[in-house]
Amino acid sequence: MVRADAPGKIILFGEHAVVYGQPAIAAPLHAVRATAVAEPALPVSGLTVHAPDIDRTLRLEALDGGPDEPLHNALVFPIQVALRYLGLPIPDLRMTVRSTIPIASGLGSGAALATALVRALCAALGHSLTNDELNPLIFRVEQRHHGTPSGIDNTVIVYEQPVYFVSGTGPQPFTIARPFTLLVADTGHGSFTHETVGDVRRLHEAAPAQVAAIFAEIGGIARQARALIEAGEFTPLGPLMDSNHDLLRQLTVSSDTLDRLCAAARAAGAWGAKLSGGGRGGNIIALVDDERAGPVAEALRAAGAVNVIQTVVRAPEQALPCSPSR
Ligand code: MEV
Repeated sequence: MVRADAPGKIILFGEHAVVYGQPAIAAPLHAVRATAVAEPALPVSGLTVHAPDIDRTLRLEALDGGPDEPLHNALVFPIQVALRYLGLPIPDLRMTVRSTIPIASGLGSGAALATALVRALCAALGHSLTNDELNPLIFRVEQRHHGTPSGIDNTVIVYEQPVYFVSGTGPQPFTIARPFTLLVADTGHGSFTHETVGDVRRLHEAAPAQVAAIFAEIGGIARQARALIEAGEFTPLGPLMDSNHDLLRQLTVSSDTLDRLCAAARAAGAWGAKLSGGGRGGNIIALVDDERAGPVAEALRAAGAVNVIQTVVRAPEQALPCSPSR
C-alpha cells in the first residue's frame, strides 16, 4: 500500500489578473490536505477510485474519454493523464481519496486531489515523477476543471512552497525574509472558479481598456507585495491587501459576506484583508500580528465565518528550481 498527499493553497495577491499575464503570489495551506492511497487489486479487476467522504466509487474504463463532469474530472481524469504520460496500461489498483480541503472554497481542492492521486499512482507503479514533470500534468487537470487556468494553483500545490508566479514562466524563486501569519476565514459559500473566471473574461471583453487597467493595478500590487515580503516589512502589506480586495470587488468577484469578513478582520486589528482565490464565496485571508490572531479570529467567527485557520507563511527549506515548467 502506498500513500501520498498534497496541501491546500491560498492566493496572497493577484488572483484573476494572473490569468491575464500579471504576477501573483500564493502559498501552500498545510493545515488542510488531500490524501490518496493505492493498494493492489485482484488481477484483471482494473482500477477503481473510492471516495468515502462522498460515498462514491468510480472505475477507470479507458485511458481516454469519459464524461466531462466534475467527479470524473476530479477522480478519473488525473489518472488517465498520468497513465498516458507514463505510457502504461490500466493497472489493477484500488485507490482511495480523502480530503480535508473544503470543495469549491478557493483553497485548491481539485489540484490537491489530482496531485495526491497521481503521486500515489506513480508510487504504486514504481515510477517517481519529479515536481517539474508532475506540474504540467496537474495543469492539464486544472484546464479540464476551469478552462483557462493560469497555472498558479497546481504550481503552489505541487511544489508545496510559496511562489511568485507569472503564467507560462513557472515558479520563480522568491525570498521570505521573515515568517508572517495569516488567518483564513471561510464564508461557507461555494466559490466556483470556472464561473468567476468566465465572468471576468466577459467583463474584459465588454470593457477591455478599463478591465486591463484593473489587471495592471493588481499586478503592480503583487510586485510591491513581493518587495515588501522580501524585505520583511509586513505593516505596509496590509493596505496592499485592502487595495487588492477593492480591485477584485470592481471585477465583481467579491460578495457581501466576503466584504463583511474583510471589514470585521480590519476592525479587530488585522493589518489588511482580502478575498483569496476565485471569489464570490470561499475564503478571505487576513494579515495579523501574532498577538492579534486570537481576537481577529474571534471577530471573524462573530461576523459569520464558518471556519478560521491560522497559518504561517515561511521560506521553504529547499529553494525552488529555476526551470521554466508549468
Ligand atoms: C484561482 O485560485 C485563481 C484564479 O486566478 C484562477 C487562476 O489563476 O487560474 C481566479
